[in-house]
Amino acid sequence: MKEQKKKKIFPDDFQWGVATSAFQLEGSPYADWATWDPCLSKIPLVTDHYNLFREDLKLLKELGVNAYRFSLEWSRIQPRDYIWDEEAIEHYQEVIDILRSYHIEPMVTLHHFTHPRWFMERHPWHRTASIEKFLRYTEMMVSTLKGVKYWITFNEPYVILLGGYLEGVTPPGLRDVNRSLVALKNIFTCHGKAYDIIHQYVPDAQVSVAHNMSVFAPWKKWNPFDRVLKKTANYFYNHSIINAFKTGIFIVKFPFSRPVEIDVPIKDKLDFFGINYYTRIHLRFNPFKKMGVELRHMDIDGHGLTNLGWEIHPRGLEKVLRYASRLNLPLIITENGIASHDTEEKVKYMKKHVDVVEKCLRDGLDVKGYYYWTLIDNYEWLQGLDARFGLYRVDFATLERTPTYAATYYAYLIQSRSGM
Ligand code: GAL
Repeated sequence: MKEQKKKKIFPDDFQWGVATSAFQLEGSPYADWATWDPCLSKIPLVTDHYNLFREDLKLLKELGVNAYRFSLEWSRIQPRDYIWDEEAIEHYQEVIDILRSYHIEPMVTLHHFTHPRWFMERHPWHRTASIEKFLRYTEMMVSTLKGVKYWITFNEPYVILLGGYLEGVTPPGLRDVNRSLVALKNIFTCHGKAYDIIHQYVPDAQVSVAHNMSVFAPWKKWNPFDRVLKKTANYFYNHSIINAFKTGIFIVKFPFSRPVEIDVPIKDKLDFFGINYYTRIHLRFNPFKKMGVELRHMDIDGHGLTNLGWEIHPRGLEKVLRYASRLNLPLIITENGIASHDTEEKVKYMKKHVDVVEKCLRDGLDVKGYYYWTLIDNYEWLQGLDARFGLYRVDFATLERTPTYAATYYAYLIQSRSGM
């Protein structure tokens, strides 16, 4: 795909990155998820990135990115409640050191969906002790690891709650609204306190969550029920967290009932806002479905659906960025990508979304970075090994990594847009 010569819009310090998560690349024998999904018993170390990381980090150099978001696998670092694995900590320090030697800015995620098994068995998020356990881990990491300015406390806090506490499809596998609200308060409390701990050790730190934002639409525009659902979903998924960061109050609002307010100590505990954006979701009222809601992806604008069936909707990225700009903080797209076996599809997806970022910059939005999800094919939480989000293809039998055209194109896109 040809790039036309354009006026330079992306600032020199714009973060062109890729994002990964530890467990999805390297598994862990000590993680709750290792035994949660039977598919992992056949390939517990997934891409074996834990051993092949030096080679994989070289791929970042090949791409020419100047930033890299990755996560620490808590269960490798703290395999038992009172045991810290020094080697695992040194391992992640080496990752940081290599990145620094390549002049790539590390962005470290403390929590990306997985937990040590002991944590999930004894202190899951709806128990108060979860706070102390997570903060102990946070302090250990922040006081030990050197060379990290950008920190993500939680990847997609709402997805943790939806999967683990409402739909029951991820650990701890509950369907319990009351406990989900307790868990939410505990996770937000951890974020607020972790924010302070990180700043105590790294005064110029930049801290955020990576929040999954989606665009919602009514299944049938003329249907008032579908429209109410759209509003409710948007309020909950996109707005309530922004409001909570501005006010310290999380508001649960269901149609035709009184709102519930929960105090959460996160007011202003944010230096930028990390946004993971993938798709638009259509909603329909259906009394026979869970909570009366049916979700669907529809190919409305002709951009197509991904291999996971998600609608490709680049304009939605502008919508969520504009929405998030209410925070008056720099915005970083901490994840955006497509599951596809078709590398041309990947290239189109990437180009269309980066075009949207460019438009937003031109319109004056304070967007500071774009991280493509993801570097190499990996394990996808509910879909196993066939989702193919990677810029590099992984043969899971031989573990060989092969660049796809999308990798070449991303390198080119970075160069041509940034003048790097
Ligand atoms: C995000 C998640 C990633 C990855 C991606 C693609 O929600 O943070 O871990 O799985 O979706 O589905």
